[in-house]
Amino acid sequence: MSPKKFKLVVLVSGRGSNLQAIIDSIKKNDLQAEISLVISNVNHAYAMERAHEHGLEVFFLNPKSYPDRNSYENILIEEILSKSVDLVCLAGYMQILGKNFIDAFSGRIINIHPSLLPAFPGLNAQKRALEHGARFSGCTVHFVNEEVDGGPIISQAVVPIFDDDNEASLSERILEQEHIIYPEAIRLILEGKLTISGRRTIHNK
Ligand code: GAR
Repeated sequence: MSPKKFKLVVLVSGRGSNLQAIIDSIKKNDLQAEISLVISNVNHAYAMERAHEHGLEVFFLNPKSYPDRNSYENILIEEILSKSVDLVCLAGYMQILGKNFIDAFSGRIINIHPSLLPAFPGLNAQKRALEHGARFSGCTVHFVNEEVDGGPIISQAVVPIFDDDNEASLSERILEQEHIIYPEAIRLILEGKLTISGRRTIHNK
């Protein structure tokens, strides 16, 4: 009998390059996991196409079809619970999650953000790093709590910012690192190497 695979659900809204990085890591056997479901809150997001191409179960859940965030998230919770997943991965999912959702999967939701948190949480992180004249930026994988981009940090990668950078060039440099640290963070979790302690994540030996 093959060993039980660690099950992921990936939530997306757009291009899905981080979803692709996770798929690629699984295919290379760097990650002993399977993606049980991909959920998009944006119809026809390119990420959905990527998921289809790899034979993954994918569906679009339209937040606008529900009267409020709670009823939308209740459906989201039900769908995810029905797959008995171990970890919820936000990969460019551009919607803030409410308390009910976060409580339902407490300590089992992670996100990737294109800045060195706690600097530049929220939208347009790369643009704001440039506007502030930051000399370095990067990306952060963190556990999700009720604060926007505020949960315990798992891992980060740093990139330099050059004088002639624009939002596109900086985003691209950061994205390259995202594709490395996101699957790596998932691996640390599935190998049981992380413990949350207050605001911090402890990396166990
Ligand atoms: C990535 O840069 C990710 O860090 C960012 O959206 C992009 C999604 O790209 N996420 C956030 O800004 C969340 N606060 P992708 O769809 O190609 O993975």
